[in-house]
Amino acid sequence: MASYTVYILLAFIYYARAVQVPTIKLNDGHQMPALALGTWLGNNTQATPQREAAVESAVAWALAAGYRHIDTAWIYRTEAPVGRALRASALPRDQLFVTTKLWVDHHAPDRVVEALRGSLEKLQLDYVDLYLIHWPCGQFANQSYDLTDHLDTWRGMMEAKQLGLTRSIGLSNFNQHQIQRILDAGLDKPQVLQVELNLSLQQPSLLAYCAAQDIAVTAYTPFGSLFPAKARPDAPPPRADDPALVQIAHKYNKTVPQIALRYLVELGVAPLPKSLTKSRIEQNVDIFDFQLTPEEKQLLKSFDRGYRTLPQLKWLDHPYFPFEKN
Ligand SMILES: NC(=O)c1ccc[n+]([C@@H]2O[C@H](COP(=O)([O-])OP(=O)(O)OC[C@H]3O[C@@H](n4cnc5c(N)ncnc54)[C@H](OP(=O)(O)O)[C@@H]3O)[C@@H](O)[C@H]2O)c1
Ligand SMILES: *[C@@H]1O[C@H](CO)[C@@H](O)[C@H](O)[C@H]1NC(C)=O
Ligand SMILES: *[C@@H]1O[C@H](CO)[C@@H](O)[C@H](O)[C@H]1NC(C)=O
Ligand SMILES: *[C@@H]1O[C@H](CO)[C@@H](O)[C@H](O)[C@H]1NC(C)=O
Ligand SMILES: *[C@@H]1O[C@H](CO)[C@@H](O)[C@H](O)[C@H]1NC(C)=O
Repeated sequence: MASYTVYILLAFIYYARAVQVPTIKLNDGHQMPALALGTWLGNNTQATPQREAAVESAVAWALAAGYRHIDTAWIYRTEAPVGRALRASALPRDQLFVTTKLWVDHHAPDRVVEALRGSLEKLQLDYVDLYLIHWPCGQFANQSYDLTDHLDTWRGMMEAKQLGLTRSIGLSNFNQHQIQRILDAGLDKPQVLQVELNLSLQQPSLLAYCAAQDIAVTAYTPFGSLFPAKARPDAPPPRADDPALVQIAHKYNKTVPQIALRYLVELGVAPLPKSLTKSRIEQNVDIFDFQLTPEEKQLLKSFDRGYRTLPQLKWLDHPYFPFEKN
């Protein structure tokens, strides 16, 4: 008994040193931490022991550093190691915020709950905090397109919420028209939209629409093309060595990636930076002790080129393809 008390006390001290991440209030009253650890490891979805261990360590380091929001998806094949790390942390469930996503092969309304139950089993959880439709483009396992109406898939999402399997529900990669159709049908309003957002792709009109509708936004690929190793040859600037960004970073004793993340936070969206590297995981959450000036934000805004890192061109001919087609 005494040793249990000591354990809890040590855990308390361990986690108390961490950064305190503010929260965003969702339109159903739940609170979402304003920054999450991303866990997509690219196209490599082979569940090797090394890969599982890397994700497990990353989540453990993130929780120790103050992250309380973890972003995963069925298709990432990272739900199991995320779940193990959450369990090992011994943090109370109500202090964690876990997001996962419905893959495109389960858009039939009666398959949504089944898909979520599969994810919950991997995560070792009774519920997630947020469940998202991952893409608007349905596709069966045999690769033919599933044209299930989004309104029907959304009814499946609403059922998952009613069953208590998820606290909140939302969309990812849907465009404004596709979101508005759900509202026009009088169905439950989504709590969150997850889209690509970074310096080269700032989506001001989509953000304004979501703000007007009280739909919170999470930002994937928040670094876009900042790192030369990841940038496509045609990707617009800036890179992490951009002199103007380096100067701002220097002023706050921060790094350029931290400035890029801070800018997204000040736009009111929650960035989802992915890293498997302990020092970067710690760095990426350490952005809540400074504020950019209006002039600095203006400079960061000027980098917007409407440039998409993940255009998902494989679905260009899908009737529900959400993005511009040029
Ligand atoms: N809904 C969707 O369709 C969708 C699509 C894409 C992504 N997402 C979500 O968004 C998350 C983030 O997006 P992403 O993984 O595409 O890209 P990202 O977070 O913009 O970039 C990740 C890359 O940046 C590196 N990195 C991270 N922090 C750094 C730092 N401080 N300094 C230098 N390099 C740093 C990482 O390297 P190391 O790991 O080697 O440290 C990794 O190579 C995903 O993991 C996923 O959860 C969702
Ligand atoms: C992922 O797949 C796409 C398309 O198949 C390819 O262009 C890209 O290089 C791949 N990325 C990685 C990291 O393997
Ligand atoms: C692909 O799978 C779907 C769903 O199981 C089925 O309805 C469809 O007929 C299949 N298409 C082909 C070409 O096999
Ligand atoms: C600058 O940041 C580093 C890393 O967070 C920290 O160790 C150092 O003490 C900071 N320096 C100042 C002057 O605040
Ligand atoms: C932003 O997104 C684009 C793709 O839309 C990507 O090519 C670019 O690298 C990203 N830029 C930054 C700074 O994150």
